[in-house]
Amino acid sequence: MAIAINNTFPRLLPLRLPKVCVAVTGSDATELVDKAEAAVRDSGFLEFRLDYLSRPASAASKIKNFTELHPQVFSVATCRRKAGGGRFQGSVAAQLQILSRAANSGCQLVDVELETAERAKPAALQKLRTRAALILSYHDFRSSKKLEGILERMARVPADFYKIVTTATTLSDNVTMMKFLEQHSDRHSLIGLCMGEQGIISRVLGLRAGSVFTFASANPGEETGPGQVTAQELRSTYRIENLDAATRVYGVAGDPIAHSLSPIIMNTALRRENVNGVYVALHAKSLADLMACVREIPIHGLSITMPYKEAILEHLDNTDSHTAQIGACNTVVRAQDGKLYGFNTDTSGIVRPLEQRLSLPAAKVLVLGAGGAARAAVFGLKERGSEVYILNRTLAASQKLARAARARFIKRADLKKFTSFDVIVNATSVGMGNSKDAPLSDNEINARFLFEMIYDPPETRLIQMARARGVEVIPGIEMLVQQAARQFEIWTGKPAPLDEMLRVARLAMQERTARKAWAKAAGKKK
Ligand code: ATR
Repeated sequence: MAIAINNTFPRLLPLRLPKVCVAVTGSDATELVDKAEAAVRDSGFLEFRLDYLSRPASAASKIKNFTELHPQVFSVATCRRKAGGGRFQGSVAAQLQILSRAANSGCQLVDVELETAERAKPAALQKLRTRAALILSYHDFRSSKKLEGILERMARVPADFYKIVTTATTLSDNVTMMKFLEQHSDRHSLIGLCMGEQGIISRVLGLRAGSVFTFASANPGEETGPGQVTAQELRSTYRIENLDAATRVYGVAGDPIAHSLSPIIMNTALRRENVNGVYVALHAKSLADLMACVREIPIHGLSITMPYKEAILEHLDNTDSHTAQIGACNTVVRAQDGKLYGFNTDTSGIVRPLEQRLSLPAAKVLVLGAGGAARAAVFGLKERGSEVYILNRTLAASQKLARAARARFIKRADLKKFTSFDVIVNATSVGMGNSKDAPLSDNEINARFLFEMIYDPPETRLIQMARARGVEVIPGIEMLVQQAARQFEIWTGKPAPLDEMLRVARLAMQERTARKAWAKAAGKKK
């Protein structure tokens, strides 16, 4: 039997609802309910998106069967109109009738857009509210502005929940949303989040700020709003059910950031070591935006990636001498005094995998490249006492780095004079992405080890050539994980669960490679 709703019940509802509502879609009622059946294996809170059905009015009996079968599950019925970002094209009266039937079929909550509510007869709306708790919703697909004004307008319509969904075009928009939630969630039951790739932090941290719950998609590719993450990701990666006021916030900032493996690696480490922390991706289109966000949200630690590793330095209160020497920072810590301190753990990412395999003092190492990654490698290896040679496409850059690090530079034409190196490190960008190029030709790979700093793709052309010559390969994923491990140690003071971090990073890369291959095959078929 479905849970009955009356006028007093909704007041208790916010306390009983799970934190994540999974949006379920389907082109017909059977598909919708099948997907709901799959979703309830992990979730006790669903949203039926009736507007995705070709005949939204037809689902009532199937939903009734479902709610009777799952009396412990909470469900929202939504039949979003086109103007509100949905697919329903019928009249306001038809929309309310569909929702009313869904309520009679056991949905304890119904979602009505503000625009519909303002056009509907108040009595019709309040009648609906006697059957189900009313979520009054507002969507802004462009910006995150004037939230107080919107709430004021919404509060004229009596409702049980006020849902405000805006679009983040900057990280600061998330701050605006979270401050709004903090200020108003004691007077209203609010649901607030920002859509868009830049709004992902509001989906994770909004609950902490006062949002009663948040939304997630059932599966990848079934998002009902831009930037929506899957329920599985919110639960297992971000441990959303465990976030509280004491949760420390960490993040990776860069542009682009969508493909970063750091959230999965770091959240795994935080969970494994029982640290009450969460690690989010911050898509920073500018450093000014990032710094504004960092000041407002008490972020404890940041991983800094392209293109901000150098530019971040002037925004920090202090950096260690090693980081200053390299001229790039990939790790920021906010100390208890609120000051920001910068470190460079890329060197650990290079040095640690090598130290596990050979003795670095006096090892002869050839570093390919003279950019940021090469600088971390060269300084790190020199510090360990290695004999370092730099080879770069642009000679002047290798000469400059060699001078700064007291290393040697060599010209490509002179490479054949060297019989062999202990290690060749590829710190160039050659071989990244879809490129099939390699920075060296086959007969130039004369070394015991090749350390490929590129991790995507996992098998570069250079790696393939090295393997064919019997050279032992150290893959880029080890660098990624070791630099992250060092960050974890700096932030938490605990040893990093390295094997577990490496395992999830490899798994995530395998999944990504498989997805790419699948998409390519599907593209060819079309
Ligand atoms: P990162 O911060 O990842 O090190 P970067 O600072 O842009 O990135 O450095 C890229 C490195 O890859 C440089 O050493 C660059 O050589 P140049 O100094 O000659 O630009 C090297 N690189 C990029 N494309 C290359 C190519 N097609 N062939 C050889 N080297 C290349």
